[in-house]
Amino acid sequence: MKRSFLKGAPFRLENPMKNIVMTREAGIKNAMVEVFIHGQNVSIISTKIALNLGISDKELHIISAAAALHDIGKKDVPLEILNKPSKLTGDEMIEMRKHTLYGFNALVKDKRFNNLANYILYHHEDCRGMGYYRLKENEIPLASKIIMAADVFDALTSDRAYRSAFSMKEALDIMENEQQKYDKKVFNELKKIIKEEKFFKYIDYTYNTY
Ligand SMILES: [Fe+2]
Repeated sequence: MKRSFLKGAPFRLENPMKNIVMTREAGIKNAMVEVFIHGQNVSIISTKIALNLGISDKELHIISAAAALHDIGKKDVPLEILNKPSKLTGDEMIEMRKHTLYGFNALVKDKRFNNLANYILYHHEDCRGMGYYRLKENEIPLASKIIMAADVFDALTSDRAYRSAFSMKEALDIMENEQQKYDKKVFNELKKIIKEEKFFKYIDYTYNTY
């Protein structure tokens, strides 16, 4: 009895794991682990940019938290959209873009977080006025501009369902080709940080294997 159990064990271990990965709960958990670790990376990069720009300690603390929580609204986006391996349809894209509003709504009523809710709402704004809410450059909070640049860099250097991660150099080249999207000072600081390669030992890319 014991012997046959041991003989079958590798199969028993492998198959249930596959089944667990297929469940909705595990899908939510994996998606949120990815959001959490991406948030952590964006927070590290954003805090360093903010520090280099001479932002006050109090504001630095708020930016750091806003960057960590910037995609928290994805918890309210349907999992089929969040984990879809292929291109989103127009309607799915509209729903996905609502994660900025869902994040704002989740935090604005909580007095511990309401000072950073705006930064989260505008983290997909583009200095050309082509972001989700079409804000112009001077209408976008500096914190949101910092989070946006750090977010793009971390996303490009991470694996996605539809492509492999770009190297840091490739990611920088892609961003340089569209540099009008980014606040000039913020983008310059990001470039300096990328060149300090040792800084990236603090960035955790382990979630690429999830
Ligand atoms: Fe986002």
